[in-house]
Amino acid sequence: MSEEVVSVRAVSYGYGTGFRPALDGVSFAVERGHLTSIVGQTGSGKSTLARLLCGLSLPDSGEIRVLGQPTSDKRCRRALKGRVGYVMQMPERQLFCDTVAEDIAYGPRNLGLGEDETRRRVSETIGFVGLDESLLDLSPFELSGGQRRMVAIAGTLAMGPEVLVMDEPTAGLDPRGRRRLEAVVGNLRDAGTTVVLVTHSMDMAATGDRVVVLSQGRLLMEGAPREVFAHETELVAVGLGIPAALSFAHGLERRRGLPRGRLGEPLDLDALADAVAREVPGWR
Ligand SMILES: Nc1ncnc2c1ncn2[C@@H]1O[C@H](COP(=O)(O)OP(=O)(O)OP(=O)(O)O)[C@@H](O)[C@H]1O
Ligand SMILES: [Mg+2]
Repeated sequence: MSEEVVSVRAVSYGYGTGFRPALDGVSFAVERGHLTSIVGQTGSGKSTLARLLCGLSLPDSGEIRVLGQPTSDKRCRRALKGRVGYVMQMPERQLFCDTVAEDIAYGPRNLGLGEDETRRRVSETIGFVGLDESLLDLSPFELSGGQRRMVAIAGTLAMGPEVLVMDEPTAGLDPRGRRRLEAVVGNLRDAGTTVVLVTHSMDMAATGDRVVVLSQGRLLMEGAPREVFAHETELVAVGLGIPAALSFAHGLERRRGLPRGRLGEPLDLDALADAVAREVPGWR
């Protein structure tokens, strides 16, 4: 049975500056256990939406319910502490403790967890994000930017959130860091965590269950990756695109005079390789 863990209904939000609100009548839902990606051009309202989903700002109109409760309710916001994790854009800027261990422990301690449990979570989550435990005693300032990012993410994960909202977690990471983070997101989803991921990568969005597309604060479309990425023209018109594998397949179909869709609309490189090996005449 599907269960809505986040519902966004006719939500508008403005900062009181500019011509238009940052969000304008946005509605969609997130189901438990799903990986939902939010994509959109720069300035389209993704980070604003991420903050609203976590109850860090409130809609001017409309309603956001998280785990059944409206975020406008103060008691609800308190109850969401720990259950909804937020990894902000550039979270590495937020580290403030003397050591990495203290930074990761901050959230669990704040939730009132004991020292043993907190220590257990610190060592579990630092491994989960692919960092060595030997870093725990260092100052966050002795780490690289990418390592600091992972520490910030570990700190949020250490609270054991049911819903995790991540705002462009892979931006600026090197290829290995990006792969590691993609694996972390995949593992979280496999473990049943509901993940909302703001991303500029259509390839990453394609790996999820749903894609929400924002354009100038409005919901342009929402659906399974396959449905959304079938609308290439509309996506390109708002400065977005489609996954590289799909773009390659379309190009190959055109050049070989194959009907559109013959290669099975692959969304990732594995599916593309399969399709090419199977379908392209003369390549066997
Ligand atoms: N603190 C703020 N004060 C005033 N306006 C803001 C503030 N934060 C965002 N905005 C405006 O709200 C709109 C949406 O911004 P938002 O940060 O949500 O976009 P975004 O989709 O996350 O962009 P990016 O991909 O660049 O991170 C923009 O027009 C921006 O100028
Ligand atoms: Mg943003």
